[in-house]
Amino acid sequence: MIYYKRLKISREEFVNNLKEIDTKNDIKQNSNCRNIIIGGAWPYANNSLHLGHIAGLISGDILARYHRQKGDNVVYVSGTDCHGTPITQRAKQEGRTPKEIAESYNEEFVQTFKAMNFSYNLYGKTEDEFHMKKVQEMFRKMYDNGYIYEKDDNQPYCEKCQKFLSDRELKLTCPNCGNESKGDQCDCGYIPTEEDLDGATCVECGNIVHLRKNKNLYLALTKLQGEIEKYVSEYAKNWRINSQNETNKYLREGLRDRAVTRDLNWGIDIPVEGFDDKKMYVWIDAVLGYITMTQKYCQENGLNWENFWKNGSKTRMYMAHGKDNITFHSIILPGLLIAMEENFKLPDMMVATEYLNINSEKISKSKGNGINVKDIVNEYDVDTLRFFLMANGPERKDSNFSVEDYLTIHNSEITNKYGNLVNRTLRFKGLDEIPNGNMDDNIARLTKDAYQKVSDYIEKTEFKKATAVIMELVEEGNKYYDERKPWEQKREDIDGFNDTIYTCANLIANLSNLFEPFMPNSSKKIREYLGIEEASWQVIGVKPETKVKDIQPLFVKVAKEKTKK
Ligand code: MF3
Ligand code: ZN
Repeated sequence: MIYYKRLKISREEFVNNLKEIDTKNDIKQNSNCRNIIIGGAWPYANNSLHLGHIAGLISGDILARYHRQKGDNVVYVSGTDCHGTPITQRAKQEGRTPKEIAESYNEEFVQTFKAMNFSYNLYGKTEDEFHMKKVQEMFRKMYDNGYIYEKDDNQPYCEKCQKFLSDRELKLTCPNCGNESKGDQCDCGYIPTEEDLDGATCVECGNIVHLRKNKNLYLALTKLQGEIEKYVSEYAKNWRINSQNETNKYLREGLRDRAVTRDLNWGIDIPVEGFDDKKMYVWIDAVLGYITMTQKYCQENGLNWENFWKNGSKTRMYMAHGKDNITFHSIILPGLLIAMEENFKLPDMMVATEYLNINSEKISKSKGNGINVKDIVNEYDVDTLRFFLMANGPERKDSNFSVEDYLTIHNSEITNKYGNLVNRTLRFKGLDEIPNGNMDDNIARLTKDAYQKVSDYIEKTEFKKATAVIMELVEEGNKYYDERKPWEQKREDIDGFNDTIYTCANLIANLSNLFEPFMPNSSKKIREYLGIEEASWQVIGVKPETKVKDIQPLFVKVAKEKTKK
């Protein structure tokens, strides 16, 4: 139940708020309610998730939770990227099959995301029968439409390993600088030509390789360039600058057709005759997962997936990923959607994050300095970790994580300010219920404004600013509390005391809504304490006489010294 009675807002606002609640139950049919698709990038199943992954993906969860609170129909999907060379290489190192590797990391990822409180509607994997079948159908469609075509090309072949090699599986002497270079690009910037690769060395066995004719299927990005440009010129103005720049750079250079079959034995089979010995390019397989997982979720929940993915549907679509994933989402994915010629809707928002450094160092697999999420969730508070990544994360530029900086936020911002406001209100000595009082006008107005501001920032994917607005409201609450001196009011002015506690309790109830996307654990606790049924995105009030007993502090300070190992 949501109580407005004692909020001092204008009669008109009061009535409007009531209207909002009345329609809440049938909101699914309400034409004002939007369909929301959120796609979180699919992590490769070749290594544990580190904090950098979470920094790049958490935006998706903020959006999902916020839109659910608004009453929108949200489908938030992701999954484990099981195919491709990252997984086969890992399997080889560990002497296990790619399937075993993919399976065990997938299970680990599910647990890790759960521990970080990610609220996917469906988290799947690319090694999933439904996904693989649907992807094959889509691939075949693009082939039938003439956007995927066959071409013979010269490609380096290793006689010893008996296989065609990709650029990255080759070593050569760079003709530009004379140093040893990988086949895709030398450190000096030189990109080897086809001739350079003839006579290069197989990384795996050291054999000299030669070019051989190889037949592959290619995605005709050259043919799609015009349509993709049209899409980008219309949509990209709302994207963060990194997505805009990276995408426009590729388009300016001119798109090149890309091979979508690979000489691998792990991945999705090619649904075109004559390619039995090849598998699908892992990126095509993975980005189509946003569609297959929506289809699967909708099928399991009696919904029509086309209401989310086809033009004419009232859908807003966000894609959340790290900056190394930008063009796969802003060029390849729209290209595939267009190539299906099935009236697909294209993503509205690219939510690309920069990199998270750890202790001022780039996260590197070889250094192993990424901070395993599996470990950190056992040591620190998940809410404040999430908050840190949103308030101090790599939203616009690379940012840094150190335990020291994190604990400053945990202790000085969240525990001392937010936690303290909740503590000294709900755990006021001798208080056992929320008194009947009057809501302070100024706090009521600030609260109402905060919903609007935070909402605007979240929809613009400016999460850092959103967290700052909420923290300002917390500070206003503390200022109000200090000025009112309820510890004196309790003795000298009981009505004033009641107003103070009542106002702060209402503020806390609304803070639980505003913080819910960022810090869902503590918000849930507040809802339990104050008898609030569910998180929403509107001004709410606490019922006077709500019992406040056995209330535990929301956050506990962590001593910095203790963490230095
Ligand atoms: N597996 C890729 C990576 O870790 C991301 C794939 S995102 C998807 O960089 F969209 F393709 F699924
Ligand atoms: Zn070889």
